[in-house]
Amino acid sequence: MFEPLRGMNDKMGLQAKKMDLIFEICSEIFKQYGFERIYTPILEQTELFKRGVGDYTDVVLKEMYDFQDKGGRSVSLRPEATASVVRAYLNSGRHKSNPSYKAYYTGPLYRYEAPQKGRYREFNQIGIECFGLKNALQDAQIIEMAVNVLKTLEIEDFKLEINNIGSFEDRKKYIEDLKMYLSKYEDKLSEDSKKRLAKNPLRILDSKDLKDIEIVKNAPKINKYLNEQEQEYYSNLKSNLDLFGIKYYENPNLVRGLDYYSSIVFEITTDKLGAQGTLIGGGRYDRLLNILGNVDIPAIGFAIGLERTMLLVDDSLVERLDNTKKIYLVYNDNTKEYMLRVLKDLREAMCQVEFDFNPKSFSAQIKKADKLGYKEVIILGENEMQEEKIIVKYLINSSQEEITLNEYLSKIYDL
Ligand code: HAM
Repeated sequence: MFEPLRGMNDKMGLQAKKMDLIFEICSEIFKQYGFERIYTPILEQTELFKRGVGDYTDVVLKEMYDFQDKGGRSVSLRPEATASVVRAYLNSGRHKSNPSYKAYYTGPLYRYEAPQKGRYREFNQIGIECFGLKNALQDAQIIEMAVNVLKTLEIEDFKLEINNIGSFEDRKKYIEDLKMYLSKYEDKLSEDSKKRLAKNPLRILDSKDLKDIEIVKNAPKINKYLNEQEQEYYSNLKSNLDLFGIKYYENPNLVRGLDYYSSIVFEITTDKLGAQGTLIGGGRYDRLLNILGNVDIPAIGFAIGLERTMLLVDDSLVERLDNTKKIYLVYNDNTKEYMLRVLKDLREAMCQVEFDFNPKSFSAQIKKADKLGYKEVIILGENEMQEEKIIVKYLINSSQEEITLNEYLSKIYDL
């Protein structure tokens, strides 16, 4: 028997329903804030991610599923979606007439990481990208939207961490000083951080290694390097978050793992998932559109890890939010035509309806409905057919009532 590849999972039954529910809730919320759906390919040129995400990031250096296609092109399964959305936006040319664009997406992503709880090689994100404006009220609203999603999913125990990692120029100076500081402790750094020191020292700041954490405690902090504009922008963001009533924690070591960020970054974390506690990650990436398309258009976005979120959403929410009426039709060979008519009307009324293709006795059909989890059956015998009526039987208490189909349908439409 074949198994899925390591770090990749099938999702069926409740898991699949939960995944759909989370996306449905997110898309409803995103639409309220003016976002529209975007679809982009899962396979892209490798160069897009090298240039977009950064040559020296772990994602590009170690984790990409890259290969040559049959035409000899170097292609990669997308490890993240922001670069693809930026590419699509630039390709569409829409920025020439109106740079403002707000899009949301979902789909699988691929990173060759060591699998563990909450970390997979194929995983899904639900994300948003917002182009055209650098504005602190807008950014606060985007963070509020992320918080709104978690609250609607009844996830309460989370922490919003924010930081300003400065403009690219601020960071250049900072990285020089950080390197100088960390070099003094090179021997004591973890093996991974030793490798990062030359090419990607910022990543050492959010290392989980205890030795690294000790060293990082006294490292220079990026907030001391922010230019005046970024300082002001950061305090504006914080006062707007206050106005939205959003609680946040400033984490000067929060740098994010992808190179395209500058200015505001944020993460929403939980301590319910062990080491893989980041549920949502995002921030501003004002230079990325220039890197990929030579245009100066500011941008911000975030992505929610779907599998991690699923681990926190209570199973009961799926049932509680599912308001589809579910009905099982019970009939016999003589009332088949009537049953098919009732079936059509009920499906038009958006009910979930099933029936037995080989109907045996009424009681056998009712037993089957019960086994399938139906709480309501409609019995259609000859008498009911003649009088254009139906018998509705409630399996919870075995009570039943006889009414006309129209009466029953109008009750459903009034719900
Ligand atoms: P990211 O922080 O790499 O950001 O990923 C966002 C979220 O995806 C994480 O917080 C986590 O919940 C989930 N995630 C990442 N890797 C895995 C994995 N191996 N297994 C399970 N879940 C995972 C981005 O991808 C950016 N593109 C987000 C963004 C959008 N920034 C601006 N716009």
